Amino acid sequence: MSLINLIDFPSLGDDRGSLVALESHQSIPFDIKRVYYIFGTQKGVSRGFHAHQQLKQVAVCVTGRCRMVLDNGKQREDVWLDSATKGILIEDMVWREMHDFSEDCVLLVLANEHYNELDYIRDYDCFLNYFVGNEK
Ligand code: TYD
Repeated sequence: MSLINLIDFPSLGDDRGSLVALESHQSIPFDIKRVYYIFGTQKGVSRGFHAHQQLKQVAVCVTGRCRMVLDNGKQREDVWLDSATKGILIEDMVWREMHDFSEDCVLLVLANEHYNELDYIRDYDCFLNYFVGNEK
């Protein structure tokens, strides 16, 4: 099964332009408790490099693009987020890295929980160790 779970957001376009509406349990498959966005990322900078023990997120580049790498400890896959109508669902216990941000990139992220630093796994070896004797 692919790690890359893309969500196609319907675009409510008319001759004035486009509009995307994101709602809990509609195009976003969870209760949205937090929204944040990453922008102004400096050239050559990569972000992420963590997993969450219990957090689901959907990410979408509303402007520009970046390359999302997902890793479940067995497989590593990447995909370009390059459309305001293309979201990616990131499940819990998935390592993520974001690379190759365009200068104009605004990466919007929706999450099903409030910010909790204790939920983060920021060490890759530690992430892999979570699976030892605890196959998901
Ligand atoms: P960080 O987790 O390093 O961003 P990323 O891994 O996605 O590149 O977050 C940067 C800082 O922002 C860090 O000090 C934690 C803080 N932060 C919040 O306070 N709330 C949030 O919802 C997020 C995502 C980060």
